[in-house]
Amino acid sequence: MLPERIEGERVVLRRHTPSNLPAFYRWYADAEIARLNRHQSGPMRRDEIERFFNARILGLESLALAIHVRESDRLIGSCAFSQIDGDNGSALYHITIGERDAWNQGYGTEATDLMLGLAFDRLGLHRVTLSVFSFNERAVASYRKSGFVLEGTARQAIWRDGRFWDELIMGILADEWRTLRRAREVGRREDDGTSPALAVGSASSGA
Ligand SMILES: CC(C)(COP(=O)(O)OP(=O)(O)OC[C@H]1O[C@@H](n2cnc3c(N)ncnc32)[C@H](O)[C@@H]1OP(=O)(O)O)[C@@H](O)C(=O)NCCC(=O)NCCS
Repeated sequence: MLPERIEGERVVLRRHTPSNLPAFYRWYADAEIARLNRHQSGPMRRDEIERFFNARILGLESLALAIHVRESDRLIGSCAFSQIDGDNGSALYHITIGERDAWNQGYGTEATDLMLGLAFDRLGLHRVTLSVFSFNERAVASYRKSGFVLEGTARQAIWRDGRFWDELIMGILADEWRTLRRAREVGRREDDGTSPALAVGSASSGA
């Protein structure tokens, strides 16, 4: 069900190996990662991280892949589906780039795009959803770029930094993903000058 690797332009998603555990210890002990990711207010304990890693990252049923920078092979994070619902064709998406210096460079959005390709093209899912805290503006921006739209709001569901914040539910359907992918392909071809529209335009301008 889970491929060995999925190649993107700047990231490669690969199966996790036990040797990735030390990175998880670091990432999930980081208070800022916990602030952005967890319903609980503090970071995970070491034993919790180990249990999470063995069950949800390496486990046989797991749909988690490691995010590596393609150029350097550096491990920077992890992305996964949980709650796969075969009857209704849906899954819940999670992503954590644990290496903070790798944020804001487009890696997260590309990893999400690759995971959506896996969900819709290979797993045949119909919809993918996620939940994100409203103060996590970087994550919301990244998800929007991958085509997720706001589906609902759990109002004031998260207590953080001395106040309540909304938890946003975002989702994307298979058809929406295919439409977005087609639009991106057209955009790329226009950028390359290889789109049929441009070819016709240049032919007629020369006539
Ligand atoms: C959320 C996460 C996966 C995004 O991946 P990333 O590689 O950092 O994000 P990208 O560079 O692909 O895209 C981020 C976008 O948000 C924008 N952005 C960054 N900070 C922002 C802010 N404060 N407000 C609005 N937009 C912001 C960036 O400009 C970028 O958009 P652009 O490419 O159009 O300029 C990653 O930052 C991460 O794992 N963070 C820590 C854990 C986490 O928050 N996980 C998600 C929990 S739901």
